[in-house]
Amino acid sequence: MYSLAIETSCDETALAIYSEDGPVGDILLSQAKIHASFGGVVPDLAAREHTKNILPLFDKLLKDTGFDIKKIDFISFTLTPGLILSLTVGASFAKAMAYYLNKPLVPVHHLEGHIYSVFLERPIQYPFIALIVSGGHTDFFLVEGFGKYTFLGGTLDDAVGESYDKVARLLKEGYPGGPIIDRLAQYGKSIYKLPRPMLKDESLNMSFSGLKTAVKHLIESLKDYKKEDIARSFQDAVIDILTEKALKAMEITQVKRLVVVGGVSANSQLRQTFKALSQEKGFELYIPHPRLSTDNALMIAYAGMERFKRGIYAATNINPEPNIPLDVFGKMWS
Ligand code: KG4
Ligand code: ZN
Repeated sequence: MYSLAIETSCDETALAIYSEDGPVGDILLSQAKIHASFGGVVPDLAAREHTKNILPLFDKLLKDTGFDIKKIDFISFTLTPGLILSLTVGASFAKAMAYYLNKPLVPVHHLEGHIYSVFLERPIQYPFIALIVSGGHTDFFLVEGFGKYTFLGGTLDDAVGESYDKVARLLKEGYPGGPIIDRLAQYGKSIYKLPRPMLKDESLNMSFSGLKTAVKHLIESLKDYKKEDIARSFQDAVIDILTEKALKAMEITQVKRLVVVGGVSANSQLRQTFKALSQEKGFELYIPHPRLSTDNALMIAYAGMERFKRGIYAATNINPEPNIPLDVFGKMWS
């Protein structure tokens, strides 16, 4: 059984061909350089780039793999959440392919894709806690089976990746800010005291916009500073919040299995800290390879294959939505 998977929710155009036994091939084109001068993703520019690039990328994927497209059994694509114009490009391409090949469409939730990115490397037992840390989301879910997602708490304002991007902008660095701050922090010292909003709050909710504002005020108050020290102080605060809340999530649910996914899970210090914590506290920890942490089509392919195997797929006319919550989506498509 073979599938074509399509991911265009933000600024990466990504395609994969995937079989039950694993990936046949995948391809990804990031638009980061195009959006860098704007300090963030410009939605209509993103959609134009997806439109321009999706067909040549598809052509290259077929050539690179030598795969016969007629062998495709179904098409998986990201239905939600994301930038609606970007999602629409991927959905339209998926629909056209489904129509041409006369094969079903399998809708995938972008966050579900992130969660299942770890399964591309190894199977994981249920139940587990998923901490999703990306440019658009910072959420805890209890995952009790495929499609069985319970929201436990999340950010009340900025996503953690968004705060990385904003802090990089405050430091007059490029976009995306995450990898830049990650690198700077490796050479910095945590010499500035920054707030850890909602750390002691009993819920699993979080807040990152106050932290970003505190960094802004700090930079404005300093005559001279090393970017590396700001980056390290900021990153220490972020990791304190995420690790503390993750421990709380495991305590509340009594589930001692944690999956950390999404673009920010590529962060080197975050990975090391969670690893050390899992050894110290004795919980199972799964973080995907950095290449699978950030947006890609393989994760969409994996989740799509799981859905198709359960007989869950759509007629060819199904339309993207900017924001269906993951728990709602899980119930809709079960
Ligand atoms: O999951 P993702 O690729 O796209 C969304 O679904 O949003 O996440 C992108 C986010 C960006 O905010 C980016 O700055 C952040 O992930 N990111 C990182 C790192 N690599 C990417 N944040 C911290 N450290 C990194 N190494
Ligand atoms: Zn993502």
